[in-house]
Amino acid sequence: MTDVASKGPEQGDDRPVLTNRQGHEVYDNQNQRTVGARGPATLENYQFLEKISHFDRERIPERVVHARGITAFGYFESYGAWGDEPVEKYTRAKLFRGRGKRTDVAVRFSTVIGGRDSSECARDPRGFAVKFYTEDGNWDLVGNNLAVFFIRDAIKFPDVIHALKPDPVTFRQEPNRIFDFMSQTPECMHMLVNLFSPRGIPADYRHMQGFGVNTYKWIDADGGSHLVKYHWMPKVGVKSMTEADAAVLQATELGHATKDLFDSIGRGEHPEWELLVQLMTDDEHDELDFDPLDDTKVWPEDQFPARPVGRMVLDRTVDDFFADNEQIAFGTGVLVDGLDFSDDKMLVGRTFSYSDTQRYRVGPNYLQLPVNQARHAEVRTNQRDGQMSYGVDGGGGNPHVNYEPSIIDGLREGQYPTHDEQGPEIRGRLTRKRIPRTDDYRQAGQRYLLMDDWERDDLVHNFVTLLSQCDRPIQERMVWHFLLVEDDLGLRVGEGLGIGPKDVAHLEPLASQDLTAEDRERL
Ligand code: HEM
Repeated sequence: MTDVASKGPEQGDDRPVLTNRQGHEVYDNQNQRTVGARGPATLENYQFLEKISHFDRERIPERVVHARGITAFGYFESYGAWGDEPVEKYTRAKLFRGRGKRTDVAVRFSTVIGGRDSSECARDPRGFAVKFYTEDGNWDLVGNNLAVFFIRDAIKFPDVIHALKPDPVTFRQEPNRIFDFMSQTPECMHMLVNLFSPRGIPADYRHMQGFGVNTYKWIDADGGSHLVKYHWMPKVGVKSMTEADAAVLQATELGHATKDLFDSIGRGEHPEWELLVQLMTDDEHDELDFDPLDDTKVWPEDQFPARPVGRMVLDRTVDDFFADNEQIAFGTGVLVDGLDFSDDKMLVGRTFSYSDTQRYRVGPNYLQLPVNQARHAEVRTNQRDGQMSYGVDGGGGNPHVNYEPSIIDGLREGQYPTHDEQGPEIRGRLTRKRIPRTDDYRQAGQRYLLMDDWERDDLVHNFVTLLSQCDRPIQERMVWHFLLVEDDLGLRVGEGLGIGPKDVAHLEPLASQDLTAEDRERL
């Protein structure tokens, strides 16, 4: 250990000298300036005031969701083709062009519901957000470790999060509130069957998948479009924890997944994932029993094969947790040429929400921060000023001309692309309606049947444990849903709660749901 006390200037200490933020050298960092050794203190004590008032402002608001997380850096390397077919045929995005092309990335893994210091053993979706620093500017792929989501319309997001977050009075995460909401939201069944299985507690961040979840578009060189879903597969395989495993670990460590990421990168075992995409022609696909824009559904891989397009390696940890992890900002609106949105109603809402919260959480100039800058593309805007602005976007030549158009100088518009109008033509009335083909149970049932026995046992155990703490009408409605998901699931959870199919036979379908013919038959 360094003997700090013995390292005075007289011992030839050549370390740099501490200054304040005005560049003034600090010759006493132990004592305030006072009138006499016993005080009182003086108010003109700039050094002390700068130090303490900066400290008073050290915290920024934590993320409203995904507050607990960790960032790492590395690269994405494209494969360029699957078999003989170049990826370029489907997207003109340059990062996928050619074999071995590398793009720098930053990845932030997170839990969703807990605060900044909460347990990483929580049953919770895990965030998997990737920022690609491409030559055409940044692309953010903001995903989760589970392939589907609770809801399919962004207008319900504050409600689902309020139900999952602690009670606003007792500040306890209450099963009764969670399942009250879920029991009235049948579209969440597919997500619940995933989340309450061991997949809901990944062993750590290296051993989990990532999914874009929402449907995006790929645009080719001629402006043609395909719908696309993204999947990250971990090279080391998927590992999850049962509720019991997690309880043991949580007794001694709240941040095991963050520690694992630091440790593995430190050892030179660089975490790696393969990126796969599923593609679909850009139309409504009436032949399918689900809507391709519904994020509560997966696309069957036998019809829409997952095609590998590249791999991602993480080889560097953060230099500073606050600068690289707390201030990093991802958003679904951050796309590059060749990649586009779909009309997925969640995606549209998300795209507003991310940059909106970041302007509040980090500040209006959050994109000037090094971790958020488009570091491999030149940034030239006429945006000026605002809180904490520390640079002027350059490139215009004449500092007086911060507007466009101008015949004096300044920036000009780029060339209008010949293929700007793309995708199918859509007509419709303004309305508030559910999408057709909601089919809330089929894929949830298929997922249940695909699980190993131990996963199904854990799922049933977890549902019974939490639903036991809920009011009877909530329990009955959940058993009613589970019977529609899959008889075996409904019967087993019902048995654990002392509720048989006869006890729920009186329940009518909810006004907020459309049942399939098959569901009606099963009722
Ligand atoms: C973070 C909103 C759905 C993945 C956030 C944040 C907000 C938000 C406000 C905090 C961002 C920040 O403070 O920087 C929404 C809304 C949604 C939605 C309104 C639905 C309409 C989803 C879905 C996924 C997802 C479906 C997964 C595909 C993430 C991730 C983060 C995040 C990974 C953390 C990003 C980071 O590490 O900084 N979301 N979200 N969200 N969301 Fe969503």
